[in-house]
Amino acid sequence: MARISINELKAMKERGEKIPMLTAYDYPTARLVEQAGVPMILVGDSLGMVVLGYDSTVPVTLNDIIHHTKAVVRGTQRAIIVADMPFLTYQISPEEALRNAARLLQETGCTAVKLEGGSEVASTVQRLTQAGIPVMGHVGLTPQAVNQLGGYKLQAKTPAAAVKLMNDAKALEDAGAFAVVLETIPARVAQRVSSQLTVPTIGIGAGPFCDGQVQVINDFLGLFEDFVPRHAKQYAQVGQTIRESVQSYVAEVQSGAFPTAKHSFGMSKEAPQELAAVYGGAR
Ligand code: KIV
Repeated sequence: MARISINELKAMKERGEKIPMLTAYDYPTARLVEQAGVPMILVGDSLGMVVLGYDSTVPVTLNDIIHHTKAVVRGTQRAIIVADMPFLTYQISPEEALRNAARLLQETGCTAVKLEGGSEVASTVQRLTQAGIPVMGHVGLTPQAVNQLGGYKLQAKTPAAAVKLMNDAKALEDAGAFAVVLETIPARVAQRVSSQLTVPTIGIGAGPFCDGQVQVINDFLGLFEDFVPRHAKQYAQVGQTIRESVQSYVAEVQSGAFPTAKHSFGMSKEAPQELAAVYGGAR
């Protein structure tokens, strides 16, 4: 079965059809997300925080993303799979970015890569897209720059910053990006950018006017409980479900209520005598 083409996303924008996107980091989750109708999955470097327990995305390595993207690709057949390029895998030079992006495509089977930044990464986006690697841009709050931004704060708040962000998004489109993530910016700025670009904008904390939305699945499922970002809507309380299930398991193992005959295995009728013969009747 062929995967959805990135060209289909632009057609969706033209038809006014919103694009739902979610992150996933493993085989079973990716399978469920695709089965539920999500056409594009991001193996985000948010992996570092919501799965690996780091306090930012900065420590995530290319090998981490490769490992998790392979699982996501194995779990899906139709969805576009976008692999995030981790911190310092694309900033040193366009050539190094190309080598690393090529590893992501060749070793994982993903469709596209995503990288953070505006005009300053436009030449890199161009180098990758000219080599046939689809690139998703990412502007606004760029979490890999958290140490420079001084926290996970609203971006493009002032008119000057909003104009800069619009120019950055346009530079990414001109460099060949097939879509641009807008993270944690005012809804009106996102609306303006979305109307200016011909490629789809995918918002997270950027209001309702983007062409698509992306959410981090562990936030969305209530599975990451350290903090809940304001832009995250919890559609389930999976963390609480896991805790309660494990509490029941602990109680049942301790009381002897689990396992029952249903979860145990018997032997043939003759086996007890045969065993007794082998073991000399010892139990
Ligand atoms: O890493 C990630 O999950 C992301 C999304 C928040 C867009 O970059």
